[in-house]
Amino acid sequence: MHHEFPVHPVPANFRDAHINAEQYRSMYQRSIEDPDGFWGELAGEFLSWDQPWTRVVDYDFTKGEANWFDGGKLNVSYNCIDRHLPERADQTALIWEGDDPGDSMHITYAELKDHVCRLANALKARGVKSGDRVCIYMPMIPEASYAMLACARIGAVHSVVFGGFSPEALKDRILDSDCQVLITADEGVRGGKKVPLKVNADKALDACPDVHTCLVVRRTGADVAWNGERDYWYDELVGGQSTDCAPESMDAEAPLFILYTSGSTGKPKGVLHTTGGYLLQSAVTFKYTFDYREGEVYWCTADVGWITGHSYIVYGPLACGATSLMFEGVPTYPNYSRCWDVVDKHGVNIFYTAPTAIRALHSEGDEPVTSTSRASLRLLGTVGEPINPEAWEWYYKVVGESRCPIVDTWWQTETGAHMITPLPGATDLKPGSASFPMFGVDVALLDESGKEIEGPGAGYLVVKASWPSQIRTVYGDHQRMIDTYFSNYKGYYFTGDGASRDADGYYWITGRVDDVLNVSGHRMGTAEVESALVLHEDVAEAAVVGYPHDIKGQGIYAYVTLMHGHAPSDDLRKELIALCVEEIGPIAKPDIIQWAPDLPKTRSGKIMRRILRKIAENELGSLGDTSTLADPSVVDKLIADRPQP
Ligand code: WT7
Repeated sequence: MHHEFPVHPVPANFRDAHINAEQYRSMYQRSIEDPDGFWGELAGEFLSWDQPWTRVVDYDFTKGEANWFDGGKLNVSYNCIDRHLPERADQTALIWEGDDPGDSMHITYAELKDHVCRLANALKARGVKSGDRVCIYMPMIPEASYAMLACARIGAVHSVVFGGFSPEALKDRILDSDCQVLITADEGVRGGKKVPLKVNADKALDACPDVHTCLVVRRTGADVAWNGERDYWYDELVGGQSTDCAPESMDAEAPLFILYTSGSTGKPKGVLHTTGGYLLQSAVTFKYTFDYREGEVYWCTADVGWITGHSYIVYGPLACGATSLMFEGVPTYPNYSRCWDVVDKHGVNIFYTAPTAIRALHSEGDEPVTSTSRASLRLLGTVGEPINPEAWEWYYKVVGESRCPIVDTWWQTETGAHMITPLPGATDLKPGSASFPMFGVDVALLDESGKEIEGPGAGYLVVKASWPSQIRTVYGDHQRMIDTYFSNYKGYYFTGDGASRDADGYYWITGRVDDVLNVSGHRMGTAEVESALVLHEDVAEAAVVGYPHDIKGQGIYAYVTLMHGHAPSDDLRKELIALCVEEIGPIAKPDIIQWAPDLPKTRSGKIMRRILRKIAENELGSLGDTSTLADPSVVDKLIADRPQP
């Protein structure tokens, strides 16, 4: 399976990249043998410190503990803004491209400093102190970046909640991390449609009495409800503030942000990242993975509501003094050429997106691409899910005209930054493979018994030693951190992914081995969707699994058992879909609902999800052993009733 597609060697124009194959090998080896020396040097080279550290790293995976750059002090917003000013005050830090192709603006580093300081002072005026949590529920507008950086400037901890999440999901996240301030907008604009952010925020805040301040950016000028005690217009509160705000000197291990992500059980977890290690690894990977060069324009299409937006729209690029493009819209609006029109309009050199976007654009054919120039493009990247080699080849040949290497970056919310990825000047590319581990990332494959697999093989992907941008804790529940990541295999960080390694040492990520779905690159626990479905009074039980979906990668397949005496109907189906949207957001809409009078269970009552997965995947020939089921005939019924997708 690994060798159907040709290998693409490092192109000639990348022979002078920051890192070549030789350098990668020696740097990697050193990083594993001498992490203190390796990361200590990079920390000095990439970041400005107020006070040096006394020890590079100390960690204990059995306790889920990691401490990087102990004793060191620095400020993230200073590192992303102020220190660049002597040489880059007038360089563009952010290019904002609005949803409407007529809307865009450039924000220089000097302007960025003013915006961030004003907001930081406004937050202080509202009583926000170092260590306080601030929730950010925003569209993709520059104020979202200002908000993150303003928090970092005063030592407050931000928790960005994706603007596509429902009021219910927003409320849960605000309460879990006890945020007392919310920054939002009147409305968002995406693909020509309005997103009612303030309406959603109001609903969420009804159940959050501790939020004393809601700052509202005027994006569309919509008429929104107003709570005079709590709500402030952003421009009014920020307008009168000073453009100077001294950056708070923070411990290297001071919390920088919380970002919620889904696991296989329970409510989403608040992944906590800290200051020094996180900023270092996002900056180092930004420079080397994308081979970023002075003056280039870089565009990551992610939303700041996800880790990709944190590390590779805001922190990594700005720490490196880059020009980062932020896009408010969607790749298909107003038409399928949008991404390439934006590339041409702003002279984008590096373009980073998700496989689901590539598949959606591929399905419209070549013309929307070939009708554009794309001459500025030098490098392409993907993130979020495995990319099928067909989509890879199309991205490579049609979008990149066979001259732009593709970096397929594997990492997670919990890892903070790239972990396995090609380096464009060092790695011969195999379509569909994330290839080799980044510096300082010691990965392994384990078999069922927890033994490390040597050489080629397939197993569970784990990490053997701490890396600077690793998760530090699950906010408010360190035991959950240990249980989720450090208990399956003692002494290893468990990623939840399966992978194989070929004879050349390339890694091929196969996807989650737990009950986590990846729908269009959005991570979701099957348990979260099930909990939403069973809220309906007619529903007795629900089991949710993923199935292969041409565009989304995975679709959501829900088996629903109704309460005795209740009949399925189209209305009920609509109500169930609406419930998922209400509880989680539009990304959680089931693609298929199958009415299941019974679910396959073991004699002890455990649902056999493996069988449900096979039926959803239409892999009926490989159901495996069904003899341990309490009632094997349940399976035949489910197969007979399987809806045609
Ligand atoms: C999960 C993490 C990392 C930022 C976006 C997603 C999957 C991510 C790849 C890739 C194959 C990938 C994994 C991982 N994933 N990148 N290049 N190839 N799979 O972050 O929401 O925390 O999801 O996304 O399954 O565990 P996330």
